[in-house]
Amino acid sequence: MTLILPARLESSIASAVEAIRVGGLVAFPTETVYGLGANALDRRAVRKIFKAKGRPADNPLIVHVADVAMAERVAHVTPRARRLMKKFWPGPLTIVVRRRPCVPDEVTAGLETVAIRMPSHPVALRLIRESGLPIAAPSANRAGRPSPTRASHVRADLRHGIDFILDGGASKVGIESTVVDLSVRKPVILRPGKVSESQVLRVLGERSGRLRNTRRPRAPGMKYRHYSPKAKLILVVGPASKARAEIRKRLRAARGRSVWLDFGAVSAPALSMGRSLADVARRLFAVMRAADERGIEVIYIRSVPEVGLGVAIMNRLRKAAREILSVT
Ligand code: TXA
Ligand code: MG
Repeated sequence: MTLILPARLESSIASAVEAIRVGGLVAFPTETVYGLGANALDRRAVRKIFKAKGRPADNPLIVHVADVAMAERVAHVTPRARRLMKKFWPGPLTIVVRRRPCVPDEVTAGLETVAIRMPSHPVALRLIRESGLPIAAPSANRAGRPSPTRASHVRADLRHGIDFILDGGASKVGIESTVVDLSVRKPVILRPGKVSESQVLRVLGERSGRLRNTRRPRAPGMKYRHYSPKAKLILVVGPASKARAEIRKRLRAARGRSVWLDFGAVSAPALSMGRSLADVARRLFAVMRAADERGIEVIYIRSVPEVGLGVAIMNRLRKAAREILSVT
């Protein structure tokens, strides 16, 4: 069974740094979700990530760096990229730019670009800094499962094949970073996150982003099913009062084995994920996992407003949902 090391102990950090240096795998906390890291410059180490997660090899990884200088070692940092880094790093923004030859194909899935991010979690930063290496890391879940926001989630998914899990407590943001592609003329948001599209565009002085509607997904990860609990997740979309009435009716018919997750001021039988969109983002993946542990068969979640963090939350919910139920 994989060892969980408390990140507050110096000895834990030292063990994790050593594991990264010798080509091992370490799961570590970031402000968004836990990552499963390896030396980004070591193709054999990177291959182990795909194996441990059961991740398809054509889905590239994010390279985590401790500063802009380290980003320059692996990527061509353009003036636009630099502006975004200055404003949003360290933090939940991943930037796709052209890669340098030192980055193995295993990391980029053969693309000429590389995704880079400087996380703000102090444990993640120490791991990168003290190993002196850029760290390739996807979210530390089994492929297709909800992303892990606690060390225990990582262990539940990845029992073998990784050296250590650094436990740095619960992730504060709770959903993965925003991914913006700067390798093309007009910046494209490939994955929404806490940093919003309009925040990115404002810093770049762009009036509007390009709507991406090509058949071939630009972020290779977008074509896979994602974030799914074992339970059937039904996303209920429509006016609040109608949606609530519909869910209540279905719950009565289901008699146990179903749960209703909602937000704001809720009353039984709904369970609240919190008052704000930030609360929902922080808890979303954890409540999906908790429902699975309790043997829940159906999860009803009411849609959240698509403003601010709500855009990213709805993106994850649509991907996780096995059914979208519109009430009007
Ligand atoms: O918050 C996060 O970003 C977390 C933490 C650990 O940093 N990481 C994360 O990694 O969510 P992952 O592998 O689960 O998602 C990375 C996404 C995928 O959708 C992948 O396809 C996309 O980034 N991506 C990676 N490299 C890319 C590239 N060169 N071009 C386009 N998309 C890329
Ligand atoms: Mg992931």
